[in-house]
Amino acid sequence: MNALSPLAVIISLASLLPLAAVADESKGSVEVVHWWTSGGEKAAVDVLKAQVEKDGFAWKDGAVAGGGGATAMTVLKSRAVSGNPPGVAQIKGPDIQDWGSTGLLGTDVLKDVAKQEKWDELLDKKVSDIVKFDGDYVAVPVNVHRVNWLWVNPEVLKKAGVAQAPTTLEEFYAAADKLKAAGFIALAHGGQPWQDSTVFENVVLSVMGPKGYQQAFVELDEKTLTGPEMVKSFEALKKVATYMDANRAGRDWNIAAADVINGKAGMQIMGDWAKSEWTAAKKVAGKDYQCVPFPGTANAFTYNVDSLAVFKLNADRKGDIAAQQDLAKVALGEDFQKVFSINKGSIPVRKDMQANMEKYGFDACAQASAKDFLKDAGNGGLQPSMAHNMATSLAVQGAIFDVVTNYINDPQADPAKAAQRLNSAIKSAK
Ligand code: BGC
Repeated sequence: MNALSPLAVIISLASLLPLAAVADESKGSVEVVHWWTSGGEKAAVDVLKAQVEKDGFAWKDGAVAGGGGATAMTVLKSRAVSGNPPGVAQIKGPDIQDWGSTGLLGTDVLKDVAKQEKWDELLDKKVSDIVKFDGDYVAVPVNVHRVNWLWVNPEVLKKAGVAQAPTTLEEFYAAADKLKAAGFIALAHGGQPWQDSTVFENVVLSVMGPKGYQQAFVELDEKTLTGPEMVKSFEALKKVATYMDANRAGRDWNIAAADVINGKAGMQIMGDWAKSEWTAAKKVAGKDYQCVPFPGTANAFTYNVDSLAVFKLNADRKGDIAAQQDLAKVALGEDFQKVFSINKGSIPVRKDMQANMEKYGFDACAQASAKDFLKDAGNGGLQPSMAHNMATSLAVQGAIFDVVTNYINDPQADPAKAAQRLNSAIKSAK
């Protein structure tokens, strides 16, 4: 990585500008920038808001619509540049390190909370390492999402003559052919770069396995990126794209999810925040819908840890700092971990809770997810999601998104050339 990341260069300008002092409520307030705006996501974040307010602090909602968070990140950068960052923002994965090196995150804010609440014991080291900068917590992790899921409406599959959810890519194609022939949208999808790449990373995981996935998206290994398996992955992606609805351009992920929920479409490839929409529609896992690992990836788990980072505030904003600390304490508390993840479709990030999912009332999908998360932690199957900011810098991720979206939208595109393009785009973004 460069000595000074692009983010650091932009943000260093911010030090020239004063931080806005906006504390107006007596006990303190916290503004939270996030992108949880679908019906199910809102129900989840409202739980945090309610608890922070109950503790006597004011919550300023900084929601920025746009699944996957790219728009929220643009807004956050421009606010930081103008010297007016929020108290808390949804920032994830390696990007936390980039923000940490700008000096804008609060390295002292969470010290006492983390010690008192024993965060080091509650969290897997893999997770705590992501949210620490130079050994200090600068963010609180709130949950674990799994990205390699296929969401299925069994009623629709039955109508199309498909006996069961597919477990391999070949079965997936066969099921999708039948769905198409029966007049359904086989694969609900929104044509937005992050959704295209969510599908792509699943296909790569299926074709190349966890090891190949890691060499491609974590190590960014040139040989893997241009090798025959990557070409095969692009071929498979082309085929998968033929099952997507032709009117998908610009569609939000939750609208695509609604097509499956309402019986217009048979399947959706999406992380388990999709479950939040099923839950909000009062549908029951295992009965009204099925969650199965994306075909060919049952032995793997692509993880996506949502986390809320704290910005450094002027020392005289004592009430607002107390609000940041309260939010962080609530976020890793047992009650919030349970209710938030039930609404959000994720699993708790606390190890003790992952080991006791039934006791907390989690459904079959979440129980399976926690079991696999704990199991895969030991066998190399656990991989960070590329499309959800966990594997690379946002610059590299953006380069991948461009190549994949251009490829999906050009039915004439050549898979071998796409692999070459992927490699050169990553190289220049590094
Ligand atoms: C986030 C989820 C969110 C999803 C859709 C993902 O990157 O981790 O929390 O629900 O995007 O916006």
